[in-house]
Amino acid sequence: MVHAAHGAAALYDRAVPIYLDHAATTPLRAEALEAMLPYLTAEYGNPSSAHGAGRRARLALDEARERFAAAIGAQPREIVFAGTGTEATNLAVKGAAWAAKARGHHLVTSSVEHHATLHAMRYLEKFGFEVTELPVDRYGRVDPEHLAAAIIDRTTLVSLIWANNEVGTIQPIAELIARIREHKGVLIHLDAVQAAAHLELDVRQLGADLVSFSAHKFEGPKGIGALWIRHGTTLLPQTQGGPQERHRRAGTENVAGAVGMAVACELNRAERAETSRRLRRLRDRLREAVLAVPGVELTGHPRERLPNHLSVVVRDTEGESVAVALDLDGLCCSTGSACDSGSNEVSHVLTAMGYPEEEARGALRFTLGRGTTEEEIERCRAAIPETIERLRAAALVLAETLGEGVRT
Ligand SMILES: Cc1ncc(COP(=O)(O)O)c(C=O)c1O
Repeated sequence: MVHAAHGAAALYDRAVPIYLDHAATTPLRAEALEAMLPYLTAEYGNPSSAHGAGRRARLALDEARERFAAAIGAQPREIVFAGTGTEATNLAVKGAAWAAKARGHHLVTSSVEHHATLHAMRYLEKFGFEVTELPVDRYGRVDPEHLAAAIIDRTTLVSLIWANNEVGTIQPIAELIARIREHKGVLIHLDAVQAAAHLELDVRQLGADLVSFSAHKFEGPKGIGALWIRHGTTLLPQTQGGPQERHRRAGTENVAGAVGMAVACELNRAERAETSRRLRRLRDRLREAVLAVPGVELTGHPRERLPNHLSVVVRDTEGESVAVALDLDGLCCSTGSACDSGSNEVSHVLTAMGYPEEEARGALRFTLGRGTTEEEIERCRAAIPETIERLRAAALVLAETLGEGVRT
């Protein structure tokens, strides 16, 4: 069914929307679902039970842990499965801060973190921790010199986002980690929730101590994340009530979720280089068409960015209005973080990058995924500019009618 109410709409098929919001979440891949199904049906045992059903669930969980660990270059005992990337990040930040409280209470992060980190930090401030939020440049990158200068004797943890969810910028992580390592006793947490889907990844080579993941960003199921904890790193558990996950995360484990996460991660790693190459090419074609629209500017780093990620600000237009108009025509995209959409708050990431509120309100994000096709991108190349121009024209007509400036 092709919906044809106006120009751009004819380019879309509303019954089968084009999905360009893979930074928000990805579809569950078939292989992961297939591997999960037995543990959602016949094999429903609790891995802590001693009977056969429990032992089979335990075996599946152990195997999932081994496979996920191998896929990221870790040892199985270093993996804690958690409910989400947000929970894994909370465990890393709060767990590390509390465990090292006797040595110091100063924590360092950046101003472009996901709220999982920023809000965990703000929570810790209520208990006497001091937090330094590092500034970023126009592209959202932390300056290694600023980072080095922020670390003091009392610093116990630096937590940084590896690749930004809103603007796709990849931090100069090797340089940043090298500067932190000049100081003894400072733990490093990386939020790899976005990076893990697209970048080369071996936790041991990365040089951090804690790395958080979320399965639904790489075609695994929702409701499962993981924290890699370098062997020998001390964390204070943030949930109490059971000995699960080697006493680091109490609560009955999500066996099916862990199985799906492991399968999705393995396949993602095997296909990553090829998928990234293809998505980069498609993303660049879309980028060329979108940036050709007058008053549209790329946000985030022009090169050091996730290969599937295109983010822009559209001047004289509300990003939210464009996203809604595109959605009505059958294209799913977003204005930035999925967690913040509808909040009407301007992006803290763009604000930290120096965009005035007026410009930040024009934010739009298109993120491609493994299922994105050439043909979809061709349709979007025509339709996105058309929609932006249509909204601007409507705003002009409205402004002339009302005799004042109107932003759609
Ligand atoms: C960079 C980053 N960190 C953390 C999270 C939180 O992950 P989850 O959705 O699994 O809670 C997200 C989700 O969008 C993210 O993009």
